[in-house]
Amino acid sequence: MLKIAVLVSGGGTNLQAIIDGIKNGDITNTEITAVISNNANAYALTRAKDNGIKAMCISPKDYSSRDIFNQALLDEVNKLDVDLIVLAGYLVRIPEAMVHQYSHRIINIHPSLIPSFCGVGFYGLKVHEAALEKGVKVTGATVHYVDEGMDTGEIIFQKAVDVLPDDTPETLQRRVMEQAEWKLLPAAINMIANRQNI
Ligand code: GRF
Repeated sequence: MLKIAVLVSGGGTNLQAIIDGIKNGDITNTEITAVISNNANAYALTRAKDNGIKAMCISPKDYSSRDIFNQALLDEVNKLDVDLIVLAGYLVRIPEAMVHQYSHRIINIHPSLIPSFCGVGFYGLKVHEAALEKGVKVTGATVHYVDEGMDTGEIIFQKAVDVLPDDTPETLQRRVMEQAEWKLLPAAINMIANRQNI
């Protein structure tokens, strides 16, 4: 059984896709041990509680320094004794010590076809604003392993999504979520949960 911790910051639609995937059998051999958010008001925490999943807020605002927050986050994750950490719309930089300790055991969903529109400053709607500004005809989403960089780790899966002439950042974001993110993240978790050499 793959035990996962899901880190979130916002609405939690990617978390919901994981929850639904476990319920409907798209994801097997997996359990969500806990959901952790840096944002006490994240609706993702409500989604977790509504599904009987341990939900925690660990916010940098509650610590006197980022280093102390980083250590507190790592300590809490270690207590959970999980096999995989899933970043599902998590907007806080992952502590370097966590990246090293959980090498090749942290994955992230990014709303573009990496290496396009990624790295510092590219998150949420900003990604889609940049894609529309550039005038790309195809965008998509990428699920990748997390390394020391920002959106630079080994790519696991990608899925392309058409950009439509009348797209706004909001309509494009929604289509990328529906057609790519919510499919790729569950698929990656299921692959990791069921590969032979784990
Ligand atoms: C979305 O823009 C998603 O692409 C990115 O984080 C944002 C929030 O996702 N990964 P969610 O609804 O909180 O899962």
